[in-house]
Amino acid sequence: MTDLLLGQVLSFTADPFLEGEAAARHESHGAVLVEDGRIAAVGSAEALRAAHPRARVTDYGQALISAGFIDAHVHYPQTAIIASWGKRLIDWLETYTFPEEMRFGDPAYAAEISGRYLDLTLAHGTTTVCSYATIHPESVDAFFEAAAARGLRAYAGKTCMDRNAPEGLRDTAESAYADSKRLLERWHGQGRLSYVITPRFSPTSTPEQLAALGALWREHPDCLMQTHLSEQLDEIEWVKALHPQARDYLDTYEAQGLLREGAVFGHAIHLAPRERARLAEAGASLVHCPTSNTFIGSGLFDMGLVAEGIRVGLATDTGGGSSFSMLRTMAAAYEIGQLRGQALHPAQLWWLATAGSARALRAEDRIGNLAPGMEADLVVVDLASTPAIAQATGRAETIWQALFPTIMMGDDRAIRAVWVNGAPAPRG
Ligand code: GUN
Ligand code: ZN
Repeated sequence: MTDLLLGQVLSFTADPFLEGEAAARHESHGAVLVEDGRIAAVGSAEALRAAHPRARVTDYGQALISAGFIDAHVHYPQTAIIASWGKRLIDWLETYTFPEEMRFGDPAYAAEISGRYLDLTLAHGTTTVCSYATIHPESVDAFFEAAAARGLRAYAGKTCMDRNAPEGLRDTAESAYADSKRLLERWHGQGRLSYVITPRFSPTSTPEQLAALGALWREHPDCLMQTHLSEQLDEIEWVKALHPQARDYLDTYEAQGLLREGAVFGHAIHLAPRERARLAEAGASLVHCPTSNTFIGSGLFDMGLVAEGIRVGLATDTGGGSSFSMLRTMAAAYEIGQLRGQALHPAQLWWLATAGSARALRAEDRIGNLAPGMEADLVVVDLASTPAIAQATGRAETIWQALFPTIMMGDDRAIRAVWVNGAPAPRG
């Protein structure tokens, strides 16, 4: 089946942090041709209609067709504790997160939350996430099964912790290696699924556990490795006390073979000059989690890291983040930019939520943009989804003026349709 989707179409030919607005391509009467799960062509509606008269046409009118959103750092097991009040990172983990994660040894509960989480993210226009599971292998199986059932490209791994976590939520260096290896061999490269080696963060891993996961990564170099880095000042002090031999927080990973291309560090707010330089040199990726950074009170990410050549993606960090929506997340990134004197252009915000996150996950050749050969994961966005947004966009003269009110005020009501792997995703 060949599908032709009509609407406004937004894609990127370059990085708007380097090239500004000129990096974006906008067709006000555009079309996307979808064939066998992939994008076959992007262009004007008139030209593609004439060239493909037999294609099945879905006309989205004035709605905007874009690559689906990519949420580059989430914890799906924290779905039910999103928006829990009044704590900061360490006591938030102890009060809300760890007790909830304890429940994921139960495969039925892990399956229930996996399905609930992926349906929520799809309803918000997100077509790929990179998730932490819990220490339980069952939590990884449940997540990948739910992602596969929905045809999603998805990334996840077992969260490894061998200290500073409650009884029942700790593994060991040996079991973390063995369980991760088994899960990796079962899931990595199955259909659209990718396994991610996942030490939670240096406070909950001994150097021995980090070294074991470094060894596993050397054996499977095409995997990603994800962890947390320099999120809160108290956390950084704690890391210094726990890893006295390390030069800085990044060195706790670097010394164990966990810093190179394919390393994806969440947060990375309070970085020392040596850490910034090494991250750029090593080709690592950072993920900005703006709603989480304000919600847990962590600090203001520096978008200047992009200019230093570092790959930066965008993420909700569910449930430290306070929303499942990448629109809301773009808004928070804009607000944090303003507080740092860095006003991000709507093209840069949209790019971060699509192509930028794909690049951070080293998947930019497959997802995160509309171009021939890319996988057909799409979001169709209504740019007048509420009266408040509609009255603001009513006077827009450019696509950016039309898009920005939805970035700042939009939510799942703005998501008109989602396509996954070349087919419309059912609405829950
Ligand atoms: N650092 C270590 N674990 C977590 C987590 O679950 N959420 C956030 N925001 N930071 C973390
Ligand atoms: Zn996180």
